[in-house]
Amino acid sequence: MKSGLEDVVAAETVLSDVDGANGRLIVRGISLDELVATSRYENVLRLLCDGFLPLPDDLPAALGRARQAVFAHVASADPAIVALPPVDGLRALMARLPDGDGIDPALQLVAAPAVFTSALLRLRNGLAPVAPDAGLAHATDFLRMLSGTMPTAQQADALDRYLVTVADHGLNASTFAARVVASTQAGLASAVLAALSALKGPLHGGAPGPVLDMLDAVGQPAGAPAWLDDALSRGERLMGFGHRIYRVRDPRADALKGAVRLLATSGAIAPARLALAEAVEQAALDLLKRKKPDRPLETNVEFYTALLLEALGFPRDAFTCVFAAGRVGGWIAHAREQALNGRLIRPMSVYVGPVPRQAA
Ligand code: ACO
Repeated sequence: MKSGLEDVVAAETVLSDVDGANGRLIVRGISLDELVATSRYENVLRLLCDGFLPLPDDLPAALGRARQAVFAHVASADPAIVALPPVDGLRALMARLPDGDGIDPALQLVAAPAVFTSALLRLRNGLAPVAPDAGLAHATDFLRMLSGTMPTAQQADALDRYLVTVADHGLNASTFAARVVASTQAGLASAVLAALSALKGPLHGGAPGPVLDMLDAVGQPAGAPAWLDDALSRGERLMGFGHRIYRVRDPRADALKGAVRLLATSGAIAPARLALAEAVEQAALDLLKRKKPDRPLETNVEFYTALLLEALGFPRDAFTCVFAAGRVGGWIAHAREQALNGRLIRPMSVYVGPVPRQAA
């Protein structure tokens, strides 16, 4: 048995390829660099769904209308839901969306993380939710629904780059969860809910909030080596480092570092914050190389995600929800690919428990 199914191939896909040895990510034949430089999230959604879900020609407007349809469910966010951690509130609200394999349920699922996350964050601050504007690009409207004002072009572009960067990534834990559920022919909402539940753990999509906690605890660049050394000596994991597949630097870390630097030039990130992050990154890489020589541990996507989403005004406990807003496109494409082309996923386990006593 391969613990954690490491190196086990469990699906065939045309959607994305994670080349862990060379640090490359390809999404439907396009390298991540090219995708981030040229594509808007809506285009990546179309690319991912091509052949699996016939999306309408006016996709940006259709997604805008889906945001409006989803917004009708915000009224069901009672105080108990608003009091939950945002990712759990998002999960509760998404559970109310219709299941099915059609375009409308699919677009509502894509729209939902942006609409519900912004509404939940505003409600917990005592503010009224802001209704979607169907005429805006998804990333722009997400930031507008969050803050109540139009974002700058740089802010909208930075969020869009983030959503594109995280849209799909091979058979990661949440995507696998989506494919398992889809293989039973349950609908898309069920597959996406399973995926969201898998995403929230700190070993997967729950890491970027703790990255900021780490930066805060380190405090000053000069304090990074000693703080990180202590953390490793206590047996802790450094959030934002390491990956099951990548044995070199995660290419998404560089894509997001580029977006962070762009934001810094527009003044949205304080130079001291960026300097602290770079010092922590360097100290962590040096220490991990020295203390874990058998396992190449490099910066992963979550490290610069943390800085980017912080600069865009998202609170750290909602970072996983924003991740879901991007990855939901990949989940839906994988779920449809699995439902159309795959078989029921039903592996075996090795029984290592007690055996019944022989009858005398
Ligand atoms: N800090 C310190 N040590 C680490 C780290 C880390 N971030 N990551 C792995 N290691 C060490 C482990 O302690 C272990 O060492 P040991 O053999 O001496 O006990 C060794 O590397 C192998 O660890 P595994 O858990 O077997 O590796 P796995 O492939 O399962 O882990 C994971 C991948 C979960 C991402 C891991 O690197 C980790 O916990 N990272 C921190 C959390 C994080 O950043 N998560 C986001 C990942 S990106 C994403 O999912 C979107």
